[in-house]
Amino acid sequence: MSKQIAIDGPAGAGKSTIAKKLAGDLSFVYVDTGAMYRSIGLYMLKHGIDIYDKAAVEKASQNADVRLKYIDGTQHVILNGADVSKEIREEQVGKAASVVSQYGQVRSNLTALQKKLAEEENVVMDGRDIGTCVLPNATLKIYLTASAEVRGKRRFDELKAKGENPDLDTIIEDIKKRDKADMTREISPLKQADDAVLVDSSDMTIDEVVDKIKSLYA
Ligand code: DC
Repeated sequence: MSKQIAIDGPAGAGKSTIAKKLAGDLSFVYVDTGAMYRSIGLYMLKHGIDIYDKAAVEKASQNADVRLKYIDGTQHVILNGADVSKEIREEQVGKAASVVSQYGQVRSNLTALQKKLAEEENVVMDGRDIGTCVLPNATLKIYLTASAEVRGKRRFDELKAKGENPDLDTIIEDIKKRDKADMTREISPLKQADDAVLVDSSDMTIDEVVDKIKSLYA
């Protein structure tokens, strides 16, 4: 049976950076499930579908073909044949993903795809519902979190480094709103699985978190 490490937690806790590094060190495949929800969000924005119209989104999502492709070990997201890996990182796409990920049909399609990937390969998979829904029998489950203030400051520094002029308070408020939406949605809300290990990265470096997870896996 394949080995599965599930990493869940709120936006900005460092999941993707840590999951990517861990997967590289263990020679596992990294699966970023948020990227899949982002692709569905992007599809709706591109096709002018009202993301708040559940029926319209569920119907349109049947025409969105999301695939993952690995080039030199890096995950690329292919939406109906086009590589959208960069586009899905835009702020508005993240917001759309948070909305469309509430809909049952969207979740069941992507969950099926994620389960299939994890059956075929050893994976480090990150998201919101991996330990609770997608891989309930994962070898190791981590719930990675950090305070909203620390996550906001990390995002602020990232945007500054890109030459933007962000407002820290607005970023922290946005993070809190996203947390609330992800934690209170009806289907598969973000929550720590009963058998997940809680890791708070507020005062830890990336390497410290990776080492901690490796020691838990060993
Ligand atoms: O991790 P991220 O910011 O790329 O995720 C984008 C959105 O997708 C996030 O607001 C919640 C949703 N998501 C989800 O509902 N379930 C997952 N397994 C991964 C992401």
